[in-house]
Amino acid sequence: MSTCFLLKPTLCLKGKGNVIRCPSNAVDKQWKTMRGGRVMNRKEIGVGLLGFGTIGSGVVKSLQDHGDLIESRTGLRLVLRRIADIDGERDRGVRLAPGLLTHDAASVVNSPDVDLVIELIGGVGAAKDLMVQALSLGKPVITANKALLAEHGEEIFRLAEDHQANVFFEASVGGGIPLIRSLREGLVSNRIQRIYGILNGTCNYILTRMEQDRISFDKALKDAQKAGFAEVEPALDIDGIDTAHKAVILASLAYGFHVPMKAVAVEGIRGFNAIDISYALDLGYRIKMLAVIKEINGEVEIRVHPTLIPMNHILSSVHGIFNAVLIEGDSVGDMLCYGQGAGRDPTASAVLSDVVDAARDLTSHVLRRAPGFILHNHAGRIREIGASKVRYYLRLTLLDKPGVFGQIGAVLGRHGISIASLLQKEVQAGKQVPVIVITHLGHEQAFREAMEEIDALNIVGAKTVRFRIEDF
Ligand code: HSE
Repeated sequence: MSTCFLLKPTLCLKGKGNVIRCPSNAVDKQWKTMRGGRVMNRKEIGVGLLGFGTIGSGVVKSLQDHGDLIESRTGLRLVLRRIADIDGERDRGVRLAPGLLTHDAASVVNSPDVDLVIELIGGVGAAKDLMVQALSLGKPVITANKALLAEHGEEIFRLAEDHQANVFFEASVGGGIPLIRSLREGLVSNRIQRIYGILNGTCNYILTRMEQDRISFDKALKDAQKAGFAEVEPALDIDGIDTAHKAVILASLAYGFHVPMKAVAVEGIRGFNAIDISYALDLGYRIKMLAVIKEINGEVEIRVHPTLIPMNHILSSVHGIFNAVLIEGDSVGDMLCYGQGAGRDPTASAVLSDVVDAARDLTSHVLRRAPGFILHNHAGRIREIGASKVRYYLRLTLLDKPGVFGQIGAVLGRHGISIASLLQKEVQAGKQVPVIVITHLGHEQAFREAMEEIDALNIVGAKTVRFRIEDF
């Protein structure tokens, strides 16, 4: 900290960058920041945008359409000062003042008339360098970049702390849903016990179409791509990585320590077989791609996988591209957030809510009004996935002959796993037959060992398909 003599300050802080903010009550409705030795009195906030793709153009459009509304609500005029993108030609359907768009992203960050930076480039290369640069200058950063936060969040948030800047990331999880804000502010007094999230619109769309239209995984994926919901290269979504990135952000925020990506047990929906959707329905469950985050005896369990959800649970009614997150806090109890988890306008809505927050921090002379992402739980621990207690849906492929169930039951029993229900539809004797087993709770490790033994039996015709069940 250093002393500051401007404007009768009540508190003066000097960051490691060249930003000094001097809170003062001297002037109503105006704000004063000394940046690089310059003192400014104004309520205009200069915005720099990095990335002019789908979301970036949505942000520009929304600023144009809703700038007056934001000003009437907050007294802040958000002025888009510069935009950087490698493509300077493409028509994005929004009109820009001449000279606004540049190829030089660093110049946007460095520009003295840019007070805050929106990073919508994506990826962990240039986006990270530019974010580091902005934070080092003490400029707040607003980002939708879940991969960057999940993989380098620890470094980014520490840098932000060091430079007394703030990182806002509402758009990184749940698209337009004010989810980060709910966790950060609305639930600040709660110990978070559990979070269940349908966090990937592409997976949810695919599973919904497979169930409702009885189509294959490949056809549902193609339709999602045609409709613009799925990427041409869909691996991040269908292999569960996107959901895992989001789960890491939620878990880190909820529990106050950096939860690394490698802590997440991830299974995707690539090649999902429609027969399991149909069996699950017969048994009263719907299958959803779910992030499960739980605190158990001081340890955080985090996993992402297709999951059977009881049909009467509210999350089973979340269809198509919609996302929903159920948060259980010790004071608030259960709380559900629901909305569009992707798309240009919903995501732009989240980005602009952060821009307003960052701007209000600047104009109200505080470093952080809302609780920031601060690593405070230094003793935070991850629970080994093998220690999770889970229930399973198993689809065994068995020879239809005497004694087969006995052998399966014996292996499960030896591993302490009890059968809750069994389903076998009548087929011609002697053929291989799918047998569905729903188990009671058991340890994940016990299931792994039991399945290895079962799949090695000569009465088993194919690798057993298994999905976890959540009873909430
Ligand atoms: N690809 C994501 C989804 C949206 O399908 O939900 C961006 O996070």
